[in-house]
Amino acid sequence: MEIVLFPDPRLRARNTPIETFDSGLAKLARDMFEVMYRTQGVGLAAPQVGMNVKLLIFNEEGKPEATEREIVLCNPRITSKSKERVSGEEGCLSFPGIYAPVQRHETIVIEAEDLEGNTFKKEFADWEARIFQHEFDHLDGVLFIDRFSPSDKTRLKPRLMDLKRTYQESLADS
Ligand code: NI
Repeated sequence: MEIVLFPDPRLRARNTPIETFDSGLAKLARDMFEVMYRTQGVGLAAPQVGMNVKLLIFNEEGKPEATEREIVLCNPRITSKSKERVSGEEGCLSFPGIYAPVQRHETIVIEAEDLEGNTFKKEFADWEARIFQHEFDHLDGVLFIDRFSPSDKTRLKPRLMDLKRTYQESLADS
């Protein structure tokens, strides 16, 4: 399993709801955690590993030993969010070397299914809320660069062009 890099079209494709909660789904989630820990991430959405389904995982500590922090959400939906927004620096495993501040809601309440298909509710705050919103965007084909300020977009344009060039070269090589 490898991380899909910008501008791979799978990052913008439609993600289908999960309807089958089987061992294949559990294995996909487990494999995603492994890739995330290996690449020093704190969150990962299924389209980032080339699977266009509504699954996301995260661990706010980003450490494999912190298993109690592992969150797996199938078909997440936002049920309420705070008016307060906070700005904080974000990166994304699909955009190596790119970091910029993004505005996110401070707290957020969600509903989702677990790996067995049971629906549950959860509230996230601060760093966890930020990670959730970043990964949730991925499931809508929205990328953090879409939320950059105009000045950050301008500043990071050369780096995005580099990623596009690398992607084109990888297509030509395959
Ligand atoms: Ni991301």
